[in-house]
Amino acid sequence: MHENVEKIMITEAQIAKRIEELAAQLDRLYEGRKPLVVCILKGSVMFFADLLRQMKTSVEMDFMVVSSYGNGTVSSRELTIKKDLTMDIFDRDVLLVEDIIDSGNTLYQLKKLLNARRPASLNIITLLDKPQRREVPIEPEYTGFVIEDEFVVGYGLDYAEEYRNLPYVGVLKRSVYEK
Ligand code: IMP
Ligand code: MG
Repeated sequence: MHENVEKIMITEAQIAKRIEELAAQLDRLYEGRKPLVVCILKGSVMFFADLLRQMKTSVEMDFMVVSSYGNGTVSSRELTIKKDLTMDIFDRDVLLVEDIIDSGNTLYQLKKLLNARRPASLNIITLLDKPQRREVPIEPEYTGFVIEDEFVVGYGLDYAEEYRNLPYVGVLKRSVYEK
């Protein structure tokens, strides 16, 4: 375990097992269709790659970079699009893949923006959800794990750009961000 990690919250094996279940559900949902699956960089990269490899549905991929967080642990409200989609989502079945929903501000604004482009459908899947922290009404269609209000890193999730490559989701030691 990494020295700055307090405890492992979700192990590699637990993540892999949950992804198999979610992939099977998505295969049923999108049967006979070809969804455009959108990775919200950077935090979703591991989840996106592992999830899509478990799905049998043929998919197309696209990537977006949005920011509402800066470098710290406190959410801000402004959504900035740093990299937009390369594909037209009009009349497409779009699946947004997110790492974690915290206040919900990021996805709430992103969903509004993408819906204005008139996709045939827009679903959200998130690896992690912290419902206790919600400030705006947004519910993902699919969730990997509902977690307590703790700051977590690993499996794509960062603190100041570090820890993304840990293979598990762990709770970051408070001493790392409270000094
Ligand atoms: P929201 O807009 O408050 O829902 O924030 C969502 C974004 O904040 C996520 O996509 C993450 O990038 C970041 N975030 C929220 N909670 C955590 C956490 O516990 N660890 C790492 N990043 C987090
Ligand atoms: Mg993120």
